[in-house]
Amino acid sequence: MKVAIVQNPEEGSKLAAEIFIAQVQQNPKTVLGLATGSTPVKLYNLLAEANRAGVVSFKECQSFNLDEYIGLAPTHEQSYHYFMKTQLFDHIDIDQTKTHVPDGLARDIAASCKAYEEAIAAAGGIDIQLLGIGSDGHIAFNEPGCSLACRTHSQVLTQQTISDNARLFFNGRIEEVPTQAVTMGIGSIMDAKRVVLLAFGKGKQEAIAGLVEGAVTTMCPCSALQYHNDCIVICDEEAAGKLRNVAYYKYIFSQTGVSNI
Ligand code: PGA
Repeated sequence: MKVAIVQNPEEGSKLAAEIFIAQVQQNPKTVLGLATGSTPVKLYNLLAEANRAGVVSFKECQSFNLDEYIGLAPTHEQSYHYFMKTQLFDHIDIDQTKTHVPDGLARDIAASCKAYEEAIAAAGGIDIQLLGIGSDGHIAFNEPGCSLACRTHSQVLTQQTISDNARLFFNGRIEEVPTQAVTMGIGSIMDAKRVVLLAFGKGKQEAIAGLVEGAVTTMCPCSALQYHNDCIVICDEEAAGKLRNVAYYKYIFSQTGVSNI
């Protein structure tokens, strides 16, 4: 695992944009794994800018998103379908028929989870997976206590996640936040060839400490990434606030940059 500690979210988003742009330039048919939340918004703006400037094209890419709330239609403003369309897909040249977000309205959730896994496999697997991180250590919606081997599944959300996400719902109304989601599993995420995780702000300190320096445990699902062989964690100084080995991570990064070697 490589840890890049940046001054602020702007610098972190810029670094992540460079990684994604280089990846798509190298392989125009990249299968992207995408994430929602406030963390990737700036990165998505930078990708759209680079696309408009002709630096990179997403025309031949496919994408798979991590998760979706159960019960929200794609047109619901808080759904992750809507988020992706308005924050990224409408602003880049990707073929929207090749973008995938789990179906939160499926009648048979188990069958639709299985189909989602099959679609990822049929696309050849995810080349580069973007992740945020929850304050409770979740990645996608894999909450503490979930299996570290699980595939796409339905997940009951923790009270912590529901209250973290209430700010995004009308007037912060917690009762409007769905209590379950469909999410790619830790096992699905671990299959991505490359992982880029972004974390900004003090609220992510505990989660980042658990991810990078904690024991691998289901109580901190992101810690499974310690077993991924091409994972870069990009965090700002605040999110890195509880790491013990900061000086060493900065030294490594100064020597090798984003490369995993
Ligand atoms: P955030 O969410 O980017 O809005 O902080 C991250 C997550 O819960 O995975």
